[in-house]
Order: sequence, then C-alpha cells, then structure tokens
Amino acid sequence: MLKNDLLLKALRQEKVDRPPVWMMRQAGRYLPDYIKLKEKYSFFERVKTPELVAEITIMPVHQVGVDAAILFSDILVVPMALGFDIELVPDKGPVIYNKITSAEEALKVQSIDVVPGLQYVFDGVKATKDGLNDEVPLIGFAGAPWTIFCYVVEGHSSKTFSKAKAFCFEEPAAAHHLLNVITEATIAYLKQKVKSGIDAVQLFDSWGGLLSPGDYDQFSFPYLLKIIEALRDEIPVIAYPKGCWYNMDKFEKSGVSAIGIDWLTTAEFARSQAPNVTIQGNLDPTRLLSPIRDIKSMTRKMIDDFGVHKYIANLGHGIEPNVPVDHARAFVDTVKEYIA
Ligand code: CP3
Repeated sequence: MLKNDLLLKALRQEKVDRPPVWMMRQAGRYLPDYIKLKEKYSFFERVKTPELVAEITIMPVHQVGVDAAILFSDILVVPMALGFDIELVPDKGPVIYNKITSAEEALKVQSIDVVPGLQYVFDGVKATKDGLNDEVPLIGFAGAPWTIFCYVVEGHSSKTFSKAKAFCFEEPAAAHHLLNVITEATIAYLKQKVKSGIDAVQLFDSWGGLLSPGDYDQFSFPYLLKIIEALRDEIPVIAYPKGCWYNMDKFEKSGVSAIGIDWLTTAEFARSQAPNVTIQGNLDPTRLLSPIRDIKSMTRKMIDDFGVHKYIANLGHGIEPNVPVDHARAFVDTVKEYIA
C-alpha cells in the first residue's frame, strides 16, 4: 500500500484535500547531488545502472518533497533498442549516428522484440520501487512515436525538426512504417514496465506542437491512441502533447486519465475543452527563476484557477537546469500548503 497515493487519487478523479505535485524532469538536472554523479558517469551509464537509476529517481522525493517519483531514464532508450546508435553529447544533446536519410532506410527498420534489450530499465524500476519503500507512486514514461521519429530522422535536437517533417510529407508510406515500428516497440516496452511495478505512465509528445492540427491527426495522434488503448485498462495514462492546446477534446475521448498541458493554455480554456478529465500543469518552467514570493503567489493562483479536484500541479514543461533547489522547493511547498 502506498503511503502517499494523492497522485493516483487525482488520476482516478477522487476527492483530495489538495492537489498532488511533481515536476517534469525533476530527476537530475538542477540537483547538486546529481551534478556530482555526472562527473563520474556518462549519461547512458547512469541510465543503464539500476542502482544509480534508483538513487537519482528518489533524490527529488527526499530533497524537494514531491508527491510522485518519475523514473530516471530517457525517451531515447526505445530507439536504441531498435538499433539506433545514440549518444548524448554534452552541450549538444542527443546525436543519432545512423539516422534515417531515405525511404529505403526507413522501410528496412524492422519490428523486433525490444524487451530483452531494455532489461536494464525494468531492473531500474524494481530497484527504485524497493528504494521508495511505498512512499510515493512511481511514474514510468515513453516518448510519443512522433517525438521519437523526430530524433531518428533529424539526427539531433532542433527547433523546427524540419527534416523529420519534410520526410513525412515527401515519403508518407515510409514515415508511417517507421512510426508503426516505434509504436509497437513502445507498447511492448510499456507493458513490461507496468509488469515491473510502475504506478502510472506519461507519454511525452514534446514535439507535437510542431505539426499543424491536420498533420498531427496523420502523424502523431493515431499512434498515441494505439498506445493509450493498449495500456489504459492496465494503468493510468497521462498524455503530454506539448503545444497541442487545440485537441484536448480528442485526448479526453482517448481514455487517458490525465492530459498534461504547457503554459500557453489558460486553466479556463483547458477545463472548457476537456471538462471530464484530470489536467496536469502548467507553470512556465522559467517562472521558477522568479523571486520566491512570486513563485508562491503564481502557484497559488494556478491552483485557484484549476481547482483542487481533477488536477495535478506541475510545470508546463521540464524544470530548467539553472533553477535553485530552494525555488523548486517553494513551488512544491506552496502546493502542499494550499488550503481550499
Ligand atoms: O525527471 C525526469 O524527467 C526523468 C528523466 C527524464 C530524462 N529525459 C532524463 C534526462 C525524462 C522524463 C526525459 C524525457 C525526454 N528525453 C524528453 C521528453 C521530455 C521533454 O523535456 O520534452 C526528450 C525530448 C528527451 C531527449 C533528450 N534527453 C534531450 C533532448 C536531452 C538533452 C537536453 C536536456 O534535456 O538536458 C536529453 C538528456 C537528458 N535526459 C538529461 C536528463 C537528466 C540531461 C543530460 C544529463 O543530465 O547528463
């Protein structure tokens, strides 16, 4: 039995005294103890070592006081298991050495059983669950097929991912083949993560907002829907389609337990679009650089606007690496002290 199951209650739309709070990308980045580990191990060494995964995942639970842990890992472990050669280059981000450059190459990517190659993640889930001692729920995650596709076609981070988009428009059949392979791998991966012990799943479509609504309906939404349909009866699913304020109604109908939104949407608009689902978000992550009194007043206003029920307090995207820990704590404490 979990000692603190506020997140799961909010995902089930049960009554709560205050909303649960966690922060996207809370594991690592801005935490001094994590930065020390970075000096000793490369990024994927950290990701592939279950004891380090547990240590980093649990850090923000004890040091910042969040109501949920999110597994320290990366969305790129799935394309790695499919055969993509990926490295995280400091100050540059992910580099994919064998990125897709033609329809022929895309069509050659085969559906394979990715589960054996991702055993280190499942071992990390088990080590983290042991270390958490049922204090708070553990969130597992995966990238949306479209967001993974962006990296394996572009080959690196980008503001526009225009090569990945152009590939969809020039070679739609090959793009759909690749998106299908990624989708199947993601479903198998997440089902095994559920068996390993995670309590909820978040799907990160970080680059969803780069597609027009019509293109999103072709190249992202159908694949996310397949994943949601495969998982929603087993575990609560949170969809985070960044930039996609216009299709909250579709996500509500998809059977997710919650929709994560960024800071470009008001609470009023979000509630009007998706009145029957839990909403997660949406403080501008850069606002954690404001003076603490502003963080507190903006966080209180955010809860006033969304309401206490069917709501998970979070940032609108990942916490920035330069946020002082006491600012992150001020955000979390304000939610925990909120009185309706
Ligand atoms: O608390 C957590 O967020 C758990 C761990 C987590 C990481 N990546 C660790 C990480 C999660 C949920 C992710 C998801 C992820 N990875 C996304 C989607 C979320 C989002 O923010 O949009 C994306 C697009 C990636 C791909 C990726 N990984 C990039 C673009 C980068 C480099 C830039 C960056 O964000 O720092 C990474 C590296 C990465 N993944 C780091 C961490 C802590 C930073 C590198 C390091 O600490 O050495």
